[in-house]
Amino acid sequence: MTDYQTILVEQRGAVTLLTLNRPQALNALNSEVLKELITAFAAYDSDEGQRCLVLTGSEKAFAAGADIKEMQAQGFADMYASNFFGGWERVTDTRKPWFAAVAGYALGGGCEVAMMADFILAADTARFGQPEIKLGVTPGMGGSQRLTHAVGKAKAMEMCLTGRMIGAEEAERAGLVARVVPAAELLNEAMKTAETIAGMAPLAAIANKEMVNAAFEQGLAQGIRFERRLFHGLFGSEDQKEGMAAFVEKRPGNWTGR
Ligand code: CAA
Repeated sequence: MTDYQTILVEQRGAVTLLTLNRPQALNALNSEVLKELITAFAAYDSDEGQRCLVLTGSEKAFAAGADIKEMQAQGFADMYASNFFGGWERVTDTRKPWFAAVAGYALGGGCEVAMMADFILAADTARFGQPEIKLGVTPGMGGSQRLTHAVGKAKAMEMCLTGRMIGAEEAERAGLVARVVPAAELLNEAMKTAETIAGMAPLAAIANKEMVNAAFEQGLAQGIRFERRLFHGLFGSEDQKEGMAAFVEKRPGNWTGR
C-alpha cells in the first residue's frame, strides 16, 4: 500500500477507513494532504473489492480548515495560477459512496470537505463552521454553495458572516448532518453504516448517489428526467434481476456488480 505521511488508510473487509492524520495541526488540510487524498480516493474508486469509504479525523478535530500557514504569504497570482484548491474536484469526482464521520472541529475547509461527502455522520462533539471571514477571506472549497444548499440561506449567511460554529444537534436540525451519535460510538456506527452500504448492489449505489447529487446540481424537471433514465438503465443489469428475484424468493441478494 502507498506510503502516506498525512493520512492513514486501512481496508476493513469491503470498507476503506481513511483517517486524516496531522494531529499537530488539528488535521489542517495542506497540499500534501490533498495530494494524498486524491491518490487514496482514486485507489478506492478503482478497487472493485472496496464498496464504501469512511473519511474521519481525530476526537478533537475532523479538520480545523485549510492550512492557514501555507496560504498566508500567497498572492492573487499565486492562487489563480496554481488553481489553488482545484484538486478537490478530483475527490468529489469519486463515483462510489463515501461519507464523513465527524468528531470535534470541522471548520472552514474541514466543514467543506465534510460537505463534499455523500453525507455526514456526526459525533455529539462535532462543531461545524465557516470562520474564513475572520481571516479576511471566504470559503474556497465550495462551502458557500454546499452549506446554503444544505441548511438554507438564512443559516448559511449567518454562519458565513459571523463565523459562528454550530454544534451537532443544531447541524442535525438544520439538515447538515444525517445523524448524530455519541462520540464514543462514532467509529462503530460509521463502520456499521459503511458495511450496510457495502452490502448493496454496487451499480445501484453509484446510481443512487448520482441522482441525489443531481438534485443538488440541476433544476427539478431535469433532475427527475435524469433519475428516470438511470432507473430505467438499471433494468439492464444483472443485479436488478438478482435483487428482485431475491425479494420474491425471500432471501438476501447475491451481487455481482454487473
Ligand atoms: N491551519 C494551520 N494550522 C492550524 C489550523 C489551520 N486551519 N488550525 C489549527 N492549527 C494549528 C495551530 O496553529 C496550532 O499549531 P501550533 O501548536 O504550532 O501553534 C495547532 O494547530 C493547535 O491549534 P490551537 O492551539 O489553536 O488549538 P485550540 O484548541 O486552542 O483551538 C481551534 C482550536 C478553535 C480550531 C483553532 O485552532 C482555530 O481557530 N483554528 C483555525 C480555524 C479556521 O480559521 N479555519 C479556517 C481556515 S481557512 C480555510 O479553511 C479556507 C477555505 O475556504 C478552505
